[in-house]
Amino acid sequence: MTRVQNQQSFYDLVKNRRSIRLYKNKLIDAKSLDRVIDAGLYAPSGKNEQNWRFVVLSGDKKEEYLEFCQKAWLKQKDILKDRLKPSLYEFTERFFYTLGGAPVVILCYSASNSNFVEFTNVGSVFMAMQNIMLAATIEGLGSCSMGAPLVFKKEIDEFIGKKYFEEEEKKSLDLVGTIVLGWPAHDPPKAERKRDYRVRKLNF
Ligand SMILES: Cc1cc2nc3c(=O)[nH]c(=O)nc-3n(C[C@H](O)[C@H](O)[C@H](O)COP(=O)(O)O)c2cc1C
Repeated sequence: MTRVQNQQSFYDLVKNRRSIRLYKNKLIDAKSLDRVIDAGLYAPSGKNEQNWRFVVLSGDKKEEYLEFCQKAWLKQKDILKDRLKPSLYEFTERFFYTLGGAPVVILCYSASNSNFVEFTNVGSVFMAMQNIMLAATIEGLGSCSMGAPLVFKKEIDEFIGKKYFEEEEKKSLDLVGTIVLGWPAHDPPKAERKRDYRVRKLNF
């Protein structure tokens, strides 16, 4: 591929990634999953600490995890009722109850030496998350980053046995994001992007 073709396919990839909230009833093979997660490991991180920790849920463990998403829905449904039209509200409710049938959820933790959550640490995990979601797109997989279940962080920590990982590593782990992953079963339009005041050029 020429450099121009490479450039084009990269920008297409970035623009083609969309949040997918409906998935096929199909598992992700271990090799594809590992490739996608490994892409996360190539992200930049503060002081190259690679402070991301991923806990991959599938099968029964993923099914049990749905409880936290369902409880998260109950926390925010009233706000969304006013904001979303009825069909989108129902679709979103179904997504929170089932995660669209996605076979995998990745819990993304930041590991640090103290209980203090540093922006650099959190940012590094988000960099890895974006790599994972772009890699998923190139694999033909769909993904959706979800922050809503984090209101039940403590329960999720207990559910995965976080204490054990912390003791093993002698580090404190903080859940900063989650990624839902699977084969897309819908083709949603790309959410609109605006440039306006979001980009300011000084000294041009
Ligand atoms: C940090 C973060 C948290 C998010 N949390 C949720 C969530 O809890 N539920 C959900 O359905 N989508 C969630 N999203 C997805 C956004 O709604 C989505 O990225 C945005 O609407 C733009 O659409 P696109 O991803 O298709 O481009 C989250 C995205 C980010 C980056």
